[in-house]
Amino acid sequence: MDVGINKKNLLDISYERLCQCKPSNINCLTAKEWLRNQLGVWQFTYEKRDIRDKSTHPATFPISLAKKVIELFTHMGELVVDPFVGSGTTLVAAMDANRNAVGFDLQSSYIELCKTRLTNGHLHNMSKQTPIQDDAKNIHEYFKEETVSLIWTSPPYANLLNRQRKNKSRRDRKNEQLDKVEQYSQDERDLGIMSIDDYTIAMGDIFESMLPLLKPKAHCVINVPDMWWENERITIHISLVQELRRRGYELRNIIIWDRTNIVNKIGIFGWPSNYITMGVTFEYLLDFWRPPK
Ligand SMILES: C[S@@+](CC[C@H](N)C(=O)[O-])C[C@H]1O[C@@H](n2cnc3c(N)ncnc32)[C@H](O)[C@@H]1O
Repeated sequence: MDVGINKKNLLDISYERLCQCKPSNINCLTAKEWLRNQLGVWQFTYEKRDIRDKSTHPATFPISLAKKVIELFTHMGELVVDPFVGSGTTLVAAMDANRNAVGFDLQSSYIELCKTRLTNGHLHNMSKQTPIQDDAKNIHEYFKEETVSLIWTSPPYANLLNRQRKNKSRRDRKNEQLDKVEQYSQDERDLGIMSIDDYTIAMGDIFESMLPLLKPKAHCVINVPDMWWENERITIHISLVQELRRRGYELRNIIIWDRTNIVNKIGIFGWPSNYITMGVTFEYLLDFWRPPK
């Protein structure tokens, strides 16, 4: 096992369990809680602490989703890494669940936002949550091998957001979002400005470099939708499944995040000649693991 030699940014953060669960258990859930988690379609609602204002951050997931994934794949005290942490939702959920967590983002403004959210919600428990401004491709410099119990993230969706919004699926088309580009940045390292092919390779490089950090059989869960581009479906989830398999990950589950309960003001489009289901009504949760040795 690598002991952290030659890792110039190595972090001092705990990753050992604080619970008394059996070593082979993958989480601290009771049988009843486990049973509820066996459903392959999940729904969530947003709470007050969630960030839904697109000008603060254009693409956040709910704290309840992050908490469910964290509680399903880790024990108390273990270490979670989010390579694209954005507004810090994963860190807030990790704090609630008493897990250590480190989140990375290119944008200093988002890292500041993470810090504010963590300070506002400060809980007194044993765990530590740390936001870091850096490119996800450098993450392997921060952790020893086989110390991370979960990689959980919602990455940019290739260049899905890097265009003026047309609001085609909205009933109130002329709202304040019309014609705005809600992309995180135009930084050349930002995965949100890349074509699907460049994006897939960049994601493969990042996740391959993080694979040795995971404990054997530790999970890596990635939240992505597909997208439409010039009337063609771009299957981001298929590109990622193929690429991560090539890079040594094994796909375990595909879970559907059913968003129909939080979508409102839907406008009609395509009728009567072109049938297109609304991309915003569901997203994929791609669950991989580092294969056992
Ligand atoms: C979909 S958002 C994550 C949102 C997050 N789940 C939340 O709830 O706030 C993706 C994030 O990836 C960041 N990003 C893009 N390219 C990156 C890179 N190369 N390294 C690190 N972060 C990057 C963007 O700045 C953006 O905040």
